[in-house]
Formats: sequence, C-alpha cells, structure tokens
Amino acid sequence: MAIEVLQADITRLDVDAIVNAANTSLLGGGGVDGAIHRAAGPQLLAACRVLNGCETGEAKITPGFNLPARWVIHTVGPVWHGGVRQEAQLLFNAYDNSFQLALTNGIKSIAFPCISTGVYRFPKTEAARIAIKAMQQYQDKFSRIIACVFNGEDLALYQKLLAEL
Ligand code: APR
Repeated sequence: MAIEVLQADITRLDVDAIVNAANTSLLGGGGVDGAIHRAAGPQLLAACRVLNGCETGEAKITPGFNLPARWVIHTVGPVWHGGVRQEAQLLFNAYDNSFQLALTNGIKSIAFPCISTGVYRFPKTEAARIAIKAMQQYQDKFSRIIACVFNGEDLALYQKLLAEL
C-alpha cells in the first residue's frame, strides 16, 4: 500500500484517526492543535484534561467527537534546538508511538500532519525524511497512511522524497 500525500486541512479527512501535533499539556494550542480542537468541539478538551498530559515522543488517544475522523491520536513532537537534544529520535518516536497506538486500537487508516515543523521549528526536509521512514515501516499494517501537508512547499517536498524511494 502506497503512502499518500495530500495537501488538505487534516480536520476534514474522513479516516479512522488523525494525528494531532500537540504540546505536553494536551490542553490545546495554535497550529494544527488549535484547528483540531476547534473542529472536534469542547468535548475534545474535556477528554484531554483527564489524560494528564503527554511526554515528548509519546502518544495518547481520544475520540474524534465532531470530527469526521473517529479518533484523534495526540502526540508531542520535539522543539528544535539545533539537533543537539535527540530531536531526530524524539520525532521518530512520535510517529512510531502514534502508529503503535493506532494498531492497538484497530485503526486502519491514519493521517499525520508535518509534526514539529511549525511552531517547533524542526527543519522540514529532515522532518519529512523521518516521517517517511516511520511510515514505510508500517505500510503493510494499514489500509491508508496519509501525509497531510498544509502548503505547496511541503507537498513538493514529500512528493520529491517519496519519488526517490
Ligand atoms: N491541517 C493540516 N496541517 C496543518 C493544519 C491543518 N488544519 N494547520 C497547521 N498545519 C501544519 C503546519 O503548517 C505545519 O506544517 O501542521 C504542521 C505542524 O505545525 P504546528 O501546528 O505549529 O505544530 P508543531 O510545529 O508540532 O508545534 C506544536 O504548536 O499549536 C501548538 O499546541 C501546539 O504547542 C504545540 C506546538
């Protein structure tokens, strides 16, 4: 099964699970986190409140509430500090733990945003390579794996990297 790249608003994707690029509080924020909470409605924040936060690189799951997606997998990517604080490993862990949590919940279709590449300033190309490496490892375990990009630059980047595989 091929990894798909879609330029879209992740909150509109009709998949089993969308992944949220959250922060360790899990209490919402800006970027894709803010968009997901706005679209899911206030029940999402209520469900997140009882999760007691999330460590960087870890993942937790809630229902999707008003989203078309049945589930939201909240993961926390690393803030970029120049690559001297295990950022690459932590970003990989965020994807890997999200996939693991999806498997344990019987999720077959999943969409990821470009985790850590916005507010957290992780370099886009290195982040995309890490994302694709993780997606390749789970390709045969899901019916759909979508890299959901939000702008033309990321679309071209993912298409280029996938074409090089
Ligand atoms: N759909 C898909 N992708 C989106 C959407 C959307 N609706 N909105 C933003 N994005 C993209 C951004 O363009 C970027 O490529 O999500 C990617 C991740 O950017 P951020 O949302 O800034 O996430 P991140 O860099 O991981 O920073 C997380 O930002 O919003 C806060 O609470 C969040 O503190 C946490 C931090």
